[in-house]
Amino acid sequence: MTQLPNTVLSQVSPFPGKGLNNLVLSNSAFENFRKYIYDSCGIYFQDNKKYLLESRLMKRINFLGMNSYDEYFDFLRFNSGNKEEIKYLYEAITINETFFFRNQPQLDALVTNVIPGIIASKGRSNNKIRIWSAASSSGEEAYSIAIIISDLIKPKYPSLDFEIIGTDINNAVVETAKTGIYREYSIRNTPGYYLKKYFKQSGSAFEVNSEIKKYVSFKILNLYDDASMRMMTNFDIIFCANVLIYFDTKSKIKVVSNLYNSLNNSGYLFIGYAETLHMISKAFTVVSFPKTVGYKKE
Ligand SMILES: C[S@@+](CC[C@H](N)C(=O)[O-])C[C@H]1O[C@@H](n2cnc3c(N)ncnc32)[C@H](O)[C@@H]1O
Repeated sequence: MTQLPNTVLSQVSPFPGKGLNNLVLSNSAFENFRKYIYDSCGIYFQDNKKYLLESRLMKRINFLGMNSYDEYFDFLRFNSGNKEEIKYLYEAITINETFFFRNQPQLDALVTNVIPGIIASKGRSNNKIRIWSAASSSGEEAYSIAIIISDLIKPKYPSLDFEIIGTDINNAVVETAKTGIYREYSIRNTPGYYLKKYFKQSGSAFEVNSEIKKYVSFKILNLYDDASMRMMTNFDIIFCANVLIYFDTKSKIKVVSNLYNSLNNSGYLFIGYAETLHMISKAFTVVSFPKTVGYKKE
């Protein structure tokens, strides 16, 4: 039977005797965390997000049986030397909302224009197309892309090879992505035809089938880390949707410039429906498609 993946919430506290404390995040502790988080991953907590940060961190602090935000801050700084606690920090602070077929106009643009154009510019239809779902959360975007390519592009270009790499900073969602198992909430926007053809249902769980999984892989990656970004090269298409909104202008500029370097010439970057590269990058040519735009590296 298909098992739904565990999440970080199911971990067993090492301090089971301790009850939940209602802690208060002082302004100075807020400043400490805000700077630490910004410097490590580019996410910037505006002043009006102080209470959000307070409640997100409180769960972790209570889990660890600590008594204050300052105590946790010291622990974090000490422990991030071995990358252990920072992993839990990212799990606590990131917002991972996503679902299958979230941005249909972008998927339509891939099918009608972008992928046929890339195939033509590569000159041989059997050349591998490399796609990166950057900030993929639990993987729904990456699998949606694999489904539409399998269903709508592969029949026209049978020898086409493609691969999709999904990355995210949050270890728990990357683990979920690897299982390919989802609840109804994630598939709420998925056409019935695709559900039937590419998923296996078991009770309330829906698992992406192996025909789709074979094209997709996932790993942890921090978009704000220049060294990791330099390893991501030769992509024809990058999706980086609904993550730039958590960054400030300076970190957006840095991340987008690294994404530009990761793209092949004639490659495309797609960002979220409500996001723009206006004031962030002039390096791309904006290409209009029905109800969406893509950013092309010429
Ligand atoms: C709202 S989700 C977007 C998921 C998907 N791209 C979509 O549009 O449906 C934002 C994701 O960005 C990830 N994220 C935030 N900061 C990141 C960073 N510095 N590096 C990589 N991923 C990051 C979060 O963990 C989260 O899963």
